[in-house]
Amino acid sequence: MSAPQSRAHWGSKFGFVLAAAGSAIGLGNIWRFPYVTNENGGGIFVLIYLAAIVLLGLPVMLAELTIGRHTEKNPVGAFGHIAPKWKWVGYLGVITGVAILSYYGVVAGWTLGYIVKSASGDLDPKAFGAFISNPAQQIGYLLVFILMTMSVVAFGVQKGIERMAQVLMPLLLLLMVALIIRGLTLPTAAAGLKFYLYPDFDHLSAKTFLFAIGQAFFSLSLGMGAMITYGSYIKKDDNLATSAIAVVGFDTLIAIMAGFLIFPVIGHSLTKGGPTLVFVTMIEQFNAMAGGQWVSCLFFLLLGIAALTSTVSLLEVATAYMIDEHNVSRGKAVLIIGAVTTALGVPAALSLGAVPALSSIAGGKGFLDIMDFLFGNVSLTFGALMTCVFLVYRWGIYNAATEVKEGCPTFGKYVLFWRIFLGYVAPAAIATMLVYILVTGQGLG
Ligand code: TRP
Repeated sequence: MSAPQSRAHWGSKFGFVLAAAGSAIGLGNIWRFPYVTNENGGGIFVLIYLAAIVLLGLPVMLAELTIGRHTEKNPVGAFGHIAPKWKWVGYLGVITGVAILSYYGVVAGWTLGYIVKSASGDLDPKAFGAFISNPAQQIGYLLVFILMTMSVVAFGVQKGIERMAQVLMPLLLLLMVALIIRGLTLPTAAAGLKFYLYPDFDHLSAKTFLFAIGQAFFSLSLGMGAMITYGSYIKKDDNLATSAIAVVGFDTLIAIMAGFLIFPVIGHSLTKGGPTLVFVTMIEQFNAMAGGQWVSCLFFLLLGIAALTSTVSLLEVATAYMIDEHNVSRGKAVLIIGAVTTALGVPAALSLGAVPALSSIAGGKGFLDIMDFLFGNVSLTFGALMTCVFLVYRWGIYNAATEVKEGCPTFGKYVLFWRIFLGYVAPAAIATMLVYILVTGQGLG
């Protein structure tokens, strides 16, 4: 057994911001945000989303980062350090991370498949159904994606996660800008932008608010301790408040930009989102455009990069748990968690047509959908609620504020706002979401 080592740290504040933004920026921003916006009233949804990000997302982001840096631990260790009876919230987070990774990895693997398809000039929008029901391809791409994720995490916080983010996040931004410019030069651009941003008040209902809040929390990677874990590597003299603002701002910017990328290309309103938006509708458009094969290649590269920096954060949570709580080496922890994730991912990968018994398990939902409902929705929402309640009513807002003030001496002025939003507004909003999810059996995030 190795001697206890001091906590790993990010090399710089900017390195942390890139890594955490990498966690937040993912499939949720690039394919989910645009179509949820379109389905929920366009510009008016974007406004509600922005309000949810600032009023709810930012306080909870700061809460997770603060719990992490104060304890310098994974979620189990972090909750346990402050209040042993709350350890189970940490366990729920670790389990949720592995579960989300297992099916998120399936969709992430598709981006690799579509990079290969694009490069080889095989852009048939009708091929999607055959692709997702092909067992060898589904398992193969999942394995490759999980192995890529494992190799980054195995190199550790600075040499693996931070260095990856330093290379991939600027590349992501560059690809995004290049693809937006290409899209805006298409004849479909004006009509598409109208569908994206035109505020349609007829669509405005209580549900709009819940979808905006759900999208905000999922997109910011909140509710399972990913940001607790990343926060645990922040140095004591770094400013938590401005770090939280930077991560939230970067994530939001990319979500909004994703709309400016997708809609000009599509040029019409969307009635159906989900996988069909990116893997069918976009492919139809790429097919029809000059040089579309290469635009498609870069588009799926962008999507793959966004997904990888997110899967890395999902894997790091359980890895940090194994290292901190069970004293295993990083390499061994990555192997164990990677194997568990793959074991859970295989049924998800086979549930989209390959194995009929897995495609319809309960209420017409297949294995992947059920995992997304239980972990991507119920558990994350519950975890976010518990995080607010824990910080305000168990740890105490002033104890938490003391931690924030290290590196941000002026935070005192904002403690009252933090208390109100974390203690009342966010719990009320999140509890409403939880009730909606449980009553309707429908996901929000
Ligand atoms: N935020 C990522 C996305 O938008 C997904 C993600 C990564 C996530 N880590 C998370 C979501 C932790 C919730 C919790 O695609």
